[in-house]
Amino acid sequence: MQLTPQTTDAPEIAPTGRRSFLGAMLALSAAAVSALLALPLIRFSTFPLRQSAAESDWTEIGPIAEFSSITAPVPKTITLERRDAWQKSVSQTAVYVLPAKAGQFRVLSPICPHLGCSVRWESAQDKFVCPCHSGSFTSDGERISGPPPRSMDALESKVEGGVLKVRYQYFRQLVSIKEVMA
Ligand code: FES
Repeated sequence: MQLTPQTTDAPEIAPTGRRSFLGAMLALSAAAVSALLALPLIRFSTFPLRQSAAESDWTEIGPIAEFSSITAPVPKTITLERRDAWQKSVSQTAVYVLPAKAGQFRVLSPICPHLGCSVRWESAQDKFVCPCHSGSFTSDGERISGPPPRSMDALESKVEGGVLKVRYQYFRQLVSIKEVMA
């Protein structure tokens, strides 16, 4: 008796192409869920980087009542807070508040645009004088004489809640055009 070979008609479980498609879909949704879970962590860990500019923007100088009747530039010490990534540093620097003009307060940086010495208000001479190379400026900070290539640098200021605030910035020296340093 001859045995006839038997054939099995069992269906294939799944074609290879279909299996890899399902695998890819699973991997994709797992990655999407992981990304969603990681989002708060990323936001938390990058918080100082995103926050730095806003926090160091405006610094209080003092209540406007203090400056409402001044007739000459007044030096004020301000406290700067800077945040670089996760490090916060505090330093002090000076600014000059000028008498208001047309109701607007004006604030000057004391840093000489020549080589960066601290310019002083000399009330006896009614002008600003730089002690390093005798650069001089009017009471409004306009250049009069000496090596400084431009007038003293005006700083952006505003009044908020009765307090005068300044946006302190550093400017490039030895150039005739005021240029903010990064
Ligand atoms: S640094 Fe002020 S005049 Fe030179």
